[in-house]
Amino acid sequence: MAVKPGVSKEEAKKKLQALITMKTKQRMIEESMKNIKYKIGVISGKGGVGKSTVTANLAVALANKGYKVGIIDSDFHGPSIPKILGLEDEKVLVTEDKKFVPVEGPLGIKVMSIYYFLPDPTTAVIWRGPLKKSFLEEILASTLFGYLDFLLIDLPPGTGDEAINLVQTLPNLTGLIAVTQPTEVSAISVAKSIDFAKKSGVRVLGIVENMSGFLCPVEKKVYRVFPGNGGQMLSDKYSIPLLGRIPIDPNIAGSADKGEIFLIKNPESPFTIEFNNVIERLLRVLKELNG
Ligand SMILES: Nc1ncnc2c1ncn2[C@@H]1O[C@H](COP(=O)(O)OP(=O)(O)OP(=O)(O)O)[C@@H](O)[C@H]1O
Ligand SMILES: [Mg+2]
Repeated sequence: MAVKPGVSKEEAKKKLQALITMKTKQRMIEESMKNIKYKIGVISGKGGVGKSTVTANLAVALANKGYKVGIIDSDFHGPSIPKILGLEDEKVLVTEDKKFVPVEGPLGIKVMSIYYFLPDPTTAVIWRGPLKKSFLEEILASTLFGYLDFLLIDLPPGTGDEAINLVQTLPNLTGLIAVTQPTEVSAISVAKSIDFAKKSGVRVLGIVENMSGFLCPVEKKVYRVFPGNGGQMLSDKYSIPLLGRIPIDPNIAGSADKGEIFLIKNPESPFTIEFNNVIERLLRVLKELNG
């Protein structure tokens, strides 16, 4: 490295060391991710629209079809995948050579979450962007996922540090799935996420409209709750496939508490049927991508 006038030898040495560390990390991530076929992030512009619910249930629906699936829960401020999949009491093991063994969930789904690194579930993570980035790099480089057909990455709302870090760090990210509610307010904020994806050169594979009507547990009918047609609107505007419309089913949240996986216990529910439609459409999109 040429030493510019004004840059001390010491500084130049430090910069070189940082560059080597970065390159080594990148190589480790590439090596660790090379046996994972599809890497898909789940995003939305707004909080609470159901990203984590969609991520977890997509994973279950895919694993139920025989695919090997992993999840990275990269929501530093509200990691919820372990709760949704009933894996809160599990632990991530660390091997002698400092690799992480992900938690094995239902149907063999491999789960990695910051949740497992917190002293207790109520601990707030007060990290700035660079620290979050190095943690994500560490997870990507050192988790022993082995071969996977799908790695789903659950993101926090918006287009903040975690989303930027993911698209910058993960080699060959297949694309993103955007989750919206039917309302225009939700769709507008998801439009920002789609814009972010475009600007980052990442494909949005599809849109999932969640909380699309209420599934009455007594009458087994779906009633409209929120106004709007957000999923279809975004699909038309950006020419991105609408993968499905998932109804609100009041029983799903309680399922994990009972240690049950809703999709498996309730194969006839419209919630389950629509998730299966979502993965069929997603598989079609991926097939088209691969020519
Ligand atoms: N289709 C659905 N039917 C019933 N409940 C749902 C549905 N989708 C989500 N929920 C519930 O809504 C709440 C928010 O969902 P979830 O945590 O998945 O949203 P999120 O977008 O990941 O939130 P955050 O932005 O905080 O990460 C949860 O309590 C979840 O159980
Ligand atoms: Mg979430």
